Amino acid sequence: MSIGQSTRQMFDLSGRSAIVTGGNRGLGRAIATALAQAGAAVAIMARDEDKNRAAVAELEALGARAVAIRVDLTDRPALKPAFDAAESALGPVDILVNNAGFAILKGVLEQSAEEWDQVLATNLSASFMLAKFAAHSMVARGRGGKIINVSSIAGNFGSPVFPSYAVTKGGLLQLTRCLALELAAHNIQVNSLLPGWFSTDMTDWIRNWPDYAEALKEMIQRTPRGRFGEPHELAGAAVFLASAASDHMTGADLVIDGGFSIR
Ligand SMILES: NC(=O)c1ccc[n+]([C@@H]2O[C@H](COP(=O)([O-])OP(=O)(O)OC[C@H]3O[C@@H](n4cnc5c(N)ncnc54)[C@H](OP(=O)(O)O)[C@@H]3O)[C@@H](O)[C@H]2O)c1
Repeated sequence: MSIGQSTRQMFDLSGRSAIVTGGNRGLGRAIATALAQAGAAVAIMARDEDKNRAAVAELEALGARAVAIRVDLTDRPALKPAFDAAESALGPVDILVNNAGFAILKGVLEQSAEEWDQVLATNLSASFMLAKFAAHSMVARGRGGKIINVSSIAGNFGSPVFPSYAVTKGGLLQLTRCLALELAAHNIQVNSLLPGWFSTDMTDWIRNWPDYAEALKEMIQRTPRGRFGEPHELAGAAVFLASAASDHMTGADLVIDGGFSIR
């Protein structure tokens, strides 16, 4: 960004190419949509083919170049071919959003080793591997880039409900800081987005399951804005972190939680 650049130019992603994991629904879909609206070409990565198709159609209807790569992020050997497929469809990546994730609601007394491994592989290890491929590509091209890790406010708190999830989200905050230090000299900024409670499939349990009615009441009471966030309310922050407007920001935690964390 140069002095005198207009605000619109600051946020303009025209000519940029983005990868958004988990871009076929929920927060990832809102992020993919907002990046496309800002001018980026967008590759989404997820498993469900019907949802992938629907998301790509929506992005194309906005006038964006878009592609879906069907991949299970726990399948490590599949990650490099998936990354390469995104780059061959849309060109070298400028923006990587490590958004895909899931939680298993089991404490240490119930969770199996296999479940622990699956949560770590999806939320943390795949993010590291894709960041590695993206960093190599960005460094080789010499144009800088943006890596955004979608962590969670759960990365800052202990949790008896989903310990493996909270560990991965804390790990992503650290991954952000480590990569930010290593990649700063290459003009690659790495930041974390920390959503609070948003209305997506992932939070169906607390929003709709009777067993968690008390937890829901407590969560709403604790949130100054008094409600769940809607996915589009996170998307602007992703555009900011993907754009020149955030060029002097790296290694940071950007909390979007309706004020939940300040109590
Ligand atoms: N919603 C919230 O309140 C909240 C709060 C804090 C943080 N977050 C974080 O925000 C991110 C998005 O959450 P969300 O609420 O949008 O969740 P969601 O609606 O459940 O969507 C999860 C996305 O991740 C993809 N995904 C999951 N496992 C995958 C795998 N093994 N391989 C490839 N893709 C996979 C899913 O696609 P497929 O099923 O088609 O593969 C889907 O697109 C997550 O990292 C989550 O931890 C969410």
